[in-house]
Amino acid sequence: MCGIVGYVGDQQAQGVVVEGLRRLEYRGYDSAGVALVADGQIAADKRAGKLANLEKAIAEDTLPEATTGIGHTRWATHGAPNDTNAHPHIGAAGRVAVVHNGIIENFAPLRAELEAEGVELRSETDTEIAAQLLERAVLAGADLTTAMQQVCQRLEGAFTLVAVDAEDPERVVAARRNSPLVVGLGEGENFLGSDVAAFIEHTRDALELGQDQVVTMTRDAVVVTGFDGSPSEGTPYHVDWDLSAAEKDGYDWFMRKEIFEQPRAVADALLGRHDENGRLQLDEVRLSEDELRNVDKIIIVGCGTANYAGLVAKYAIEHWTRIPCEVELAHEFRYRDPILTRDTLVVAISQSGETADTLMAIRHAREQGARVLAICNTNGSTIPRESDAVIYTHAGPEIGVASTKGFLTQLIACYLLGLYLAQVRGTKFGDEIAAVVRELEQMPEHVQAMLDKAEEIYALAAEHAKTRAVLFLGRHAGFPIALEGALKLKELAYIHAEGFAAGELKHGPIALIEPGLPVFCVVPPRGRDHLHEKMTSAIQEIRARGAHTIALAEEGDDAARPYADRLIELPKVSTLLQPVVAVVPLQLFACELATVMGHDVDQPRNLAKSVTVE
Ligand code: G6P
Repeated sequence: MCGIVGYVGDQQAQGVVVEGLRRLEYRGYDSAGVALVADGQIAADKRAGKLANLEKAIAEDTLPEATTGIGHTRWATHGAPNDTNAHPHIGAAGRVAVVHNGIIENFAPLRAELEAEGVELRSETDTEIAAQLLERAVLAGADLTTAMQQVCQRLEGAFTLVAVDAEDPERVVAARRNSPLVVGLGEGENFLGSDVAAFIEHTRDALELGQDQVVTMTRDAVVVTGFDGSPSEGTPYHVDWDLSAAEKDGYDWFMRKEIFEQPRAVADALLGRHDENGRLQLDEVRLSEDELRNVDKIIIVGCGTANYAGLVAKYAIEHWTRIPCEVELAHEFRYRDPILTRDTLVVAISQSGETADTLMAIRHAREQGARVLAICNTNGSTIPRESDAVIYTHAGPEIGVASTKGFLTQLIACYLLGLYLAQVRGTKFGDEIAAVVRELEQMPEHVQAMLDKAEEIYALAAEHAKTRAVLFLGRHAGFPIALEGALKLKELAYIHAEGFAAGELKHGPIALIEPGLPVFCVVPPRGRDHLHEKMTSAIQEIRARGAHTIALAEEGDDAARPYADRLIELPKVSTLLQPVVAVVPLQLFACELATVMGHDVDQPRNLAKSVTVE
């Protein structure tokens, strides 16, 4: 999410910064900007669209020569992707310029505080709040480092901030909490970047920063402190990747990188969703509580992986809200003449926000008078623009064609929507909702625990390099995960893969079982005893017919063990949330199997990331 560059040295900062931004383009962005410190002033330009727009603007209206600068490619979160909301943001007095990556959770009260003091904010961003606060601290006499320390102590959420002060031209100051930032160590020059790709052509010596650290960079020194000003230090390391590996953070594929980003993505998807009393607040849902109370039917539409997120959502939303919920492939929806009224809520799930089938579905729904809520990862894209309300998933740009972190964050957004509806309609008590939210907040840790098993899953994939077919079984919320596991294999490994509801086995699919056929079985947690038992019986049935059973079951579940040729242990989580952890090994398996088979994981044959035609 967003690319950040900072530079101080003896080269022309504009060139270094723009080149750094180009190296970070792969992260995905919708606007770009730079700020330079020259002759006691900030000189800046920023433009919506591609870096080329910014370069054209700078070529026509040149910026002064400078050796200190910062730059940014923005992936919109707060506010539409336009020139005004693009970074850098500059304080009212023109003294401090700031670029930012992340989400400042308490931006609403800080914004209100600034407005009450008469500050006129120009953009819709949370970043401008940080720029104004920093500038006020500097104008009150603090140096930029102290100002950054003071401001960071007031901010909540996830953020990387990089700032310059017009009257202190030799210094760039940055801070990080839960958001990426690395320092590049040069000779008589130093760099900052969201990742090492930003400066790898200048230096391979880098400094990793810890949580809640402030770094002050001059030509000859890099000084690290805590937010409270206490002395601290980063961890130096040498980068031995080439540029293309650097863009992927050392991973071979963007998809694998994105799988490993999931703990962070899930945490970001949950940021700022409730107040201090645990009451959910979905700021982007611009439907009144009355409108939500009147909803008598929900129809979820989406395609591919997004459709499977919808299938999981149905279990959670119906259970928590008792509102009937249908899930439909977006391209099927419109043509069956669905029954829609003003009290129907159509939920459109789309990572890209541009899938034509989903867009056509919501247009049809709105023409029929239904309300549309989008769950989307791409701020300012068409689907949220044409919807009545939106929940952004905040996964950051997803580059691998096969969706991974997009899917996990769609699940989180669906859970939040279900809980919010339950809160508004009173179908769950506040403490019950708070308990689920607490469990959701543990998900990043649980997802990490699954990622820690990657080597085990990779070994499993290597053993199956010659497999021509794989089946996936699940029940209840595990059924869509079986479908998603199969889709991933089809997309990436080009082998026949099917997901089934385990109860359906005896009605046909069991005929497919033959000796040695690998079958992944998603076993529900034991909290749902009857489901758990039935799944265990299904595993016995297929094993008796020679299947090679790979069970995904919660730790300590010994019932499946005797019938599992392989057991992948899942953390203990509740039934409705199990999809978040159960899908991770299936993603790792598909990514690794396709790698072993020699396929291009990031760009599978015949597929497009965003399908913009019907
Ligand atoms: C394409 C992609 C899938 C994706 C689907 C929906 O088919 O290949 O990976 O799940 O579109 O995309 P969306 O952007 O709407 O979530």
